Amino acid sequence: MKNLIKLKYLYKLKEAGVNYFDGFVSVEKKIDMPNELKELENICKNCSLCDLGKTRTNVVFGEGNPNAKIMFIGEGPGEMEDKTGRPFVGRAGKLLTKIIENVLELDRNDVYIANIVKCRPPNNRVPSIEEAETCKPYLLKQIDIIEPKILVCLGKTAFMYLLNSDLAISKVRGQIFEYKGKKVIPTYHPSFLLRNPSAKKEAYKDFLLIKSML
Ligand code: URA
Repeated sequence: MKNLIKLKYLYKLKEAGVNYFDGFVSVEKKIDMPNELKELENICKNCSLCDLGKTRTNVVFGEGNPNAKIMFIGEGPGEMEDKTGRPFVGRAGKLLTKIIENVLELDRNDVYIANIVKCRPPNNRVPSIEEAETCKPYLLKQIDIIEPKILVCLGKTAFMYLLNSDLAISKVRGQIFEYKGKKVIPTYHPSFLLRNPSAKKEAYKDFLLIKSML
């Protein structure tokens, strides 16, 4: 856990006005996290590496099949997720569950669901780059441990922070990217689909592609 302590130290430096962002990238690669999902969850649940830890009710580590072939990555917990400690349980979560069951013909328990940040950003704002980069080692370790074949990025934020890309989700959705030998497919976030039902047609196509790859 020495590297976690180092990461905390670097975060303190940031608070003191020292720009350590480049250093962060190399720390992220070297960070020493446990190889057990439960152990990782326990560490994550006590995390106070960024300010989101000060306002959260619960850490939302992620849930699902530890041997899942497919992992969904959202942006960050919303109100319901913060209250319950579970990912995608609000309105957007209900839509995601319906898609998993009705389009992919899987049970929600067959897949793994996680987020870029594990604590709720106040007022559901988009997580900052510092918050995302601070939290990302947890997600990357979840991916390392679970080894899904397919990573589905739900919305721009998940895609942007996973692949360091600034491309619009409308441009990249339904295309196949790669991250450490895993296929990455970005699609619209279910919250976007709730606000823009006409985009469901395109999302449906994306999920049919995902289904064909399973
Ligand atoms: N939106 C997300 O991005 N993640 C959740 O867990 C819930 C809503």
